Amino acid sequence: MTEELWTAVDNYITDLLVGPDAALDSALEASAAAGLPQIAVAPNQGKLLYLLALIRGARNILEIGTLGGYSTIWLARALPPAGALITLESDPKHAEVARSNIARADLADRVEIRVGLAIDTLPQLHAEGKGPFDLIFIDADKPNIPNYFAWAMKLSRPGSLIIVDNVVRDGAIIDSGSDDPSVLGVRRFNELVAGNSHVTATTIQTVGTKGYDGFTIGLVR
Ligand code: SAH
Ligand code: DHB
Ligand code: MG
Repeated sequence: MTEELWTAVDNYITDLLVGPDAALDSALEASAAAGLPQIAVAPNQGKLLYLLALIRGARNILEIGTLGGYSTIWLARALPPAGALITLESDPKHAEVARSNIARADLADRVEIRVGLAIDTLPQLHAEGKGPFDLIFIDADKPNIPNYFAWAMKLSRPGSLIIVDNVVRDGAIIDSGSDDPSVLGVRRFNELVAGNSHVTATTIQTVGTKGYDGFTIGLVR
């Protein structure tokens, strides 16, 4: 089984179940044209985020790691008209590209982008009394996942979903001797989840256009 096959299957699924989508397709094109790294979630993963937000009936969503706003658009589309999404991004250029992609998707009224290191903007959100959020998507710098998870627990309520991207990393996460800061971040996060009775979670491995990786879904209780 090769990455080529995973990609062909992803394309087959995406052609049938996601289809062409002007706003999402141009978000990816504009992001690539602006030189952003091509590390957004795959289309079928974006649709999973959208489905999870719909299933949850999310009215308030928090995203950590905006990039060009591709996953943001998927998540924000699941919101009711009065819903809101706050997305945190440290790179002003990424935020600017995202702002224009989100406006083109007609979601500017529901999405707020906060520029700054998430480790600074998260306590600001908390101090402002924002939240609780119904769904929190963690997809920024991986060494900080344990910190973002701690903030996610503070900014959620029983019933909130916490989703964390890129937690398998080609299988590198099983290496207990790893000194890769991203692997260390994911492993510490797993230990925090395992020891926290206020969240129940599992992790699913994924293959596809984005290689071999995975995501965690946790339910706050
Ligand atoms: N969620 C996006 C992909 C995000 S990529 C999608 O799937 O479409 C990760 C993003 O996190 C990048 O844009 C990067 O600039 C941002 N980032 C990295 N470190 C950060 C930090 N400390 N605080 C906030 N954002 C950060
Ligand atoms: C990276 C970040 C992501 O969120 C992702 O999905 C893939 C790669 C990265 O920083 O390399
Ligand atoms: Mg990711």
